Amino acid sequence: VLALHRHLSSDAKDVKTVTVFGAGLMGAGIAQVGAQAGYKVVLSDVTDKALDNGLNIISKSLARVAKKASPDDIEGYTKNVLANITVTTDAEKAVADSDLVVEAIIESIKIKRDLFGFLDKKAKPSAIFASNTSSLSITEIADATSKERQANFAGLHFFNPVPAMKLVEIIRTDATSQSTYEALREVTIKMGKKPVTCKDTPGFIVNRLLVPYMLEAIRLVERGEATPEDVDTAMELGAGYPMGPFKLLDFVGLDTTSYISDGWHKNSGETGLPPTLVETPELLAKLVSEGRLGRKNGKGFYDYSK
Ligand code: 3HC
Repeated sequence: VLALHRHLSSDAKDVKTVTVFGAGLMGAGIAQVGAQAGYKVVLSDVTDKALDNGLNIISKSLARVAKKASPDDIEGYTKNVLANITVTTDAEKAVADSDLVVEAIIESIKIKRDLFGFLDKKAKPSAIFASNTSSLSITEIADATSKERQANFAGLHFFNPVPAMKLVEIIRTDATSQSTYEALREVTIKMGKKPVTCKDTPGFIVNRLLVPYMLEAIRLVERGEATPEDVDTAMELGAGYPMGPFKLLDFVGLDTTSYISDGWHKNSGETGLPPTLVETPELLAKLVSEGRLGRKNGKGFYDYSK
């Protein structure tokens, strides 16, 4: 019995295979840092086109990483990392052997809950489930799974660009077990990241501070107090931020930011967030409605088309 117990508990903590759902910018980045750390990674999305796009993102980033990580054998390093990654559109197959599932799909509570509810029945009981959501409640997502799984469920929030940003927020719900939390800490450290711990509250740490800051920068410009260029210069040279708030807004995506603020504003009654703090500024809504989404489509607060 003791041997069995030891086997089970070490099994629960020992992550070897990581499955990432969503082959967008975040999911591709998470798959890449997992593969770089030596995990067997399965990257899954709904179409082959999405998977190709994800592999393309990984190849480009890996070229930058390999130059630094292994200057004498760039080709060998790249080959080894890519050999750790397999792709599939079959969600059931993707989790069959998984020890850790990281979800980085579209920011919709319903779609995330549907995915996890399905995976709960297909994955090993010991598999840890984690969501990379930046603005939704981990508890609400985890609630789509069984009681047992909820102990193995947490938030695992990476930052864009994942291969370059050192931080990962680990979000513990009231149900997250200590062994799940510790396993996730170990995984993030093995990925070369620095984990911080946070309760399941809107925006966790970084976005809870960063989103209101970016919204206030927009309001400052709306009030005619300074130009976006001068606000960016001010925060870069006066506060040491690598990018000022408008460059960062364009980088994160104006649609993404307004989606977060709209959601938080709507739920502010329940969560206790001050509604005026998270109200979407008119200028932001206007730019989004004009299709100016940021760097990803060439135009946001700045023009990247040239
Ligand atoms: N893949 C691999 N490496 C990358 C990379 C990528 N996609 N992007 C940048 N890097 C590496 C570069 O190789 C370089 O490494 P080196 O200095 O060792 O050669 C280093 O990062 C710096 O890159 P660059 O020289 O190209 O450019 P910068 O010095 O301007 O840095 C930046 C780029 C890291 C993006 C920096 O501008 C930055 O930190 N910006 C702020 C980013 C940020 O705040 N992200 C969080 C957004 S919020 C979020 O993600 C939460 C979400 O939920 C909304």
